[in-house]
Amino acid sequence: MNIVTVFVVSQGACVWVPDPEAVQNASYFIYIGANHLYAILLFLNKEMEYPVLPPVGLPPLRNPDILEGENDLTALTFLHEPAVLHNLRVRFLDYSSIYTYCQIVLVVLNPYEQLPIYGEEVIDAYSGQDMADMEPHIFSVAEEAYRTMIREEKNQSIIISGESGSSKTVSAKFTMHYFAVMGGAAQQTSAIGNAKTTRNNNSSRFGKYIEIGFGRRGDIIGANMRTYLLEKSRVVFQVLWEGICL
Ligand SMILES: *[C@@H]1O[C@H](CO)[C@@H](O)[C@H](O)[C@H]1NC(C)=O
Ligand SMILES: *[C@@H]1O[C@H](CO)[C@@H](O)[C@H](O)[C@H]1NC(C)=O
Ligand SMILES: *[C@@H]1O[C@H](CO)[C@@H](O)[C@H](O)[C@H]1NC(C)=O
Ligand SMILES: *[C@@H]1O[C@H](CO)[C@@H](O)[C@H](O)[C@H]1NC(C)=O
Repeated sequence: MNIVTVFVVSQGACVWVPDPEAVQNASYFIYIGANHLYAILLFLNKEMEYPVLPPVGLPPLRNPDILEGENDLTALTFLHEPAVLHNLRVRFLDYSSIYTYCQIVLVVLNPYEQLPIYGEEVIDAYSGQDMADMEPHIFSVAEEAYRTMIREEKNQSIIISGESGSSKTVSAKFTMHYFAVMGGAAQQTSAIGNAKTTRNNNSSRFGKYIEIGFGRRGDIIGANMRTYLLEKSRVVFQVLWEGICL
């Protein structure tokens, strides 16, 4: 079976190219010639002609500028890897935000520093609010789970996943801190079994399943943790767009 893909692209449309060094500055400008479709690649002020006829296909299109820095990735017109990375980058650099929604999923960047966005006043601001009404934050996820648990009387799970060094443990800690404040048991939580690995100087050595029990009024009545040994290599491949990763 042949698959035919039809694009409608205006002249001058911008796209992404997988350049490891300066992907941000490289744009293709689609040129529609008399007989052929060409893309003119402007990269470091040099023009290169690049045919986009099959089988090469069209490179991933850039989103309109107005969507730059959207707080929910699903709002993007074109949703592909370079669009996601670019949007996360813009949010991090221009909006100083490490958090972005992808619908009910929260995407977190590790800022490699302690940010002043976890204080009591921030917890107060998120308490009782709908996830959709609030800027993305780990507390909005915690609040959503907490309220749904109380309202629907159903157990809730929060899955925190990501590669080594992506701040999963820290995210789990802030989530538990939120529950502790909500459940009237604010105490220090501390990490156990951390180790230095090639990709992370302070890596958790165990996967953890943490269960927190709440009483009828949403107060914490108990908690326990099970640990699992992690496999040796958790990174299976490198992304092609590495150049603009933070
Ligand atoms: C991208 O372009 C800006 C100015 O337009 C320049 O300051 C920056 O160094 C360039 N980045 C790369 C990686 O070439
Ligand atoms: C929630 O999970 C706990 C522990 O697994 C279980 O005892 C309890 O019955 C569950 N509650 C509901 C409403 O399913
Ligand atoms: C290592 O990570 C744990 C858990 O996030 C944190 O509590 C601890 O302060 C970190 N240690 C160092 C040296 O950064
Ligand atoms: C680990 O720490 C060393 C020395 O402090 C530093 O040079 C290195 O970049 C760190 N590695 C990572 C992955 O953070």
